[in-house]
Amino acid sequence: MPIESNPLRKIYLELTDSCNLECEICYRHQWAEEPRDMSEELWNTVLAQIKEIPAVETIVLGGMGEPLVSPLFQQTVALLRDKQIWVTSNGTLFKEKLTASSVADVNLFIVSIDGMQEQMVKGRGVVFDKLMEEVDFLNRLKEENGKETPHLDIQFVASRKNIDDIFPLMDVLAEKKIRNIIISHLLPQYEEQADDILYKPYNNQELKQLFHKIRNYSFKRGLRIIFPETELKTERHCAFVNNDATYITSRGEIVPCYRLSHQGSEVVFGRPKTLRQYSFGNLTHKHLADIWQDPAYVRFRNKIYNNHYPSCPDCDLVEGCSLIHDVDFDCHGEEPNCADCLWSRKFVFCD
Ligand SMILES: C[S@@+](CC[C@H](N)C(=O)[O-])C[C@H]1O[C@@H](n2cnc3c(N)ncnc32)[C@H](O)[C@@H]1O
Ligand code: SF4
Ligand code: SF4
Ligand code: SF4
Repeated sequence: MPIESNPLRKIYLELTDSCNLECEICYRHQWAEEPRDMSEELWNTVLAQIKEIPAVETIVLGGMGEPLVSPLFQQTVALLRDKQIWVTSNGTLFKEKLTASSVADVNLFIVSIDGMQEQMVKGRGVVFDKLMEEVDFLNRLKEENGKETPHLDIQFVASRKNIDDIFPLMDVLAEKKIRNIIISHLLPQYEEQADDILYKPYNNQELKQLFHKIRNYSFKRGLRIIFPETELKTERHCAFVNNDATYITSRGEIVPCYRLSHQGSEVVFGRPKTLRQYSFGNLTHKHLADIWQDPAYVRFRNKIYNNHYPSCPDCDLVEGCSLIHDVDFDCHGEEPNCADCLWSRKFVFCD
């Protein structure tokens, strides 16, 4: 019996997994493999294949790296201009890499800013005032084009170390034509970061009150904030599967999401876990449309969409379970193991 599948509508395209920064929180720290730009040959294949799937509406230039580092950034934007193009960026290369014409074809920039002067230097090695100049530059290009777009969203990765900076940051951002501030939680990469998180499994009154204060302050500043959850909820929602999205790595692997895109590690409520890439195929051997329709990938998406997978954070066996140390298998015998995923709990986001 054929298995039903929605068409592919959104693609996270990782033009490079290298970066000009070394942020303290970054998922990339635990990698064993050398970062790499997508080769021109693979890029040609990827673009040709994307064009053959008319249902694709949105391309997110992002992934694990800085898209503006890629020499193929401008060409990609130009060639995919009939799609909605979103760019997730650290914002530090706008003046060097962006032009009015490349910006004209982008619908949304999501820029990572999660602190004021001291925190941005410590956490990202970025000088805050210089970053604001980059944001101003982007706004000037937009004015030059006389267009409403690109919209500008800010992604703030919240932890105990930086959450207080959100108030002065809102004062500054109120003047920068920001559409949304998206607060995502920190997903600790190693045990020393484990206590920096603000979310809890249950009864997180303290954070709820703080978010309430932040929301009220944002109203005064005319800003809109998108908040993550503060504690575990029964509902799970995988933003990748539910939006009919896939992720193409710089090596052409088709993976379901950020979490399963590279080898790495994470700490889930104090429990360290090894992550590995889970690929449904590589574009050098197979067409993207065929990988999307592959029964194994379709079954996986149906399982996640319908919530037919176990849940570790609230499982009675979690303390003794041997399956929680990696993402190889869950206790239903299925792979990969999404049962401990904090993205689907709406703690962690990435547009
Ligand atoms: C991996 S980056 C790639 C795009 C670009 N280089 C940037 O920093 O915006 C995408 C987003 O993931 C966030 N991020 C990185 N490491 C994280 C972590 N350990 N927990 C939560 N978010 C993280 C970044 O702050 C950024 O907003
Ligand atoms: S800028 Fe983005 S990809 Fe680069 S190190 Fe920082 S979080 Fe990671
Ligand atoms: S893998 Fe299954 S048994 Fe083990 S902790 Fe998670 S839900 Fe519980
Ligand atoms: S549930 Fe989590 S690990 Fe599984 S596909 Fe979605 S984001 Fe990835």
